[in-house]
Amino acid sequence: MSLLTAIVPGVAEQLPIAVLVSGTGTNLQALLDTVHGREARIVAVASSVADAPALARAAERDVPTAVFARGDYADRAARDDALADWLVQRGARLVVLAGYMELLGPVFLARFSGAVINVHPSLLPAFPGIGAVAQALAYGVQVFGVTVHFVDEGVDTGPVILQRAVELPDAREEHEVLDALRPLEHALLPQAVRLFARGALQFDPADPRHPLAMRPPGAGADWPADLRVARPARGRAEASAPGEANGPDETRDAGEG
Ligand code: GRF
Repeated sequence: MSLLTAIVPGVAEQLPIAVLVSGTGTNLQALLDTVHGREARIVAVASSVADAPALARAAERDVPTAVFARGDYADRAARDDALADWLVQRGARLVVLAGYMELLGPVFLARFSGAVINVHPSLLPAFPGIGAVAQALAYGVQVFGVTVHFVDEGVDTGPVILQRAVELPDAREEHEVLDALRPLEHALLPQAVRLFARGALQFDPADPRHPLAMRPPGAGADWPADLRVARPARGRAEASAPGEANGPDETRDAGEG
């Protein structure tokens, strides 16, 4: 038990997390700038793309990186095995998909059961899979948004952790929507990691679609934004929902990544 844990009830040790990326890595940067070194410690960044700019963001903070390109393995299962082995070796307890453009298979998800989360640029269940913003624009919606959810074997079908909406009735171009969604993503994804690290996510088989704990007595009106509230520490094993949502079979969120 750390000194911090001893002094502040409900503050757990830093949660070792891995972040999977494929592209720019602005969500990784948000995690590096917020939770890294605080509630969590990013112990591994893995990319499916060798020259993903996200890798430089990790290296700049001395976070170990590795590339697991699908073409380097016999099949996806072999790639998943190698990836999972590395993440386990690095001690990761939570896997965060932050613009990761590959599917993860059931064996990988079983190895990190209830501990894989994803950020998706739509208000799920609307517009899952690739091209979410383009789908939403084509449909003509006026309210857009972001979802952070657990990953299960479906296409962005896992239990919702956090969602936030933004009204953009005049938006016609993807970049307009993406510019509005980025700050939401960069707030919600770290917040979901904090919630996981604090044990505020739990899986109740009787209510599997609501993994976010009810607002604890004494929490501010902005719960779950207000994480300063001391809450009883819960075991990490409890602090998880079932495995989470995978993207479509080829790539996830292509066009947003
Ligand atoms: C984000 O829009 C996220 O919702 C989607 O992929 C994009 C990743 O962006 N899954 P970045 O690489 O974090 O900048």
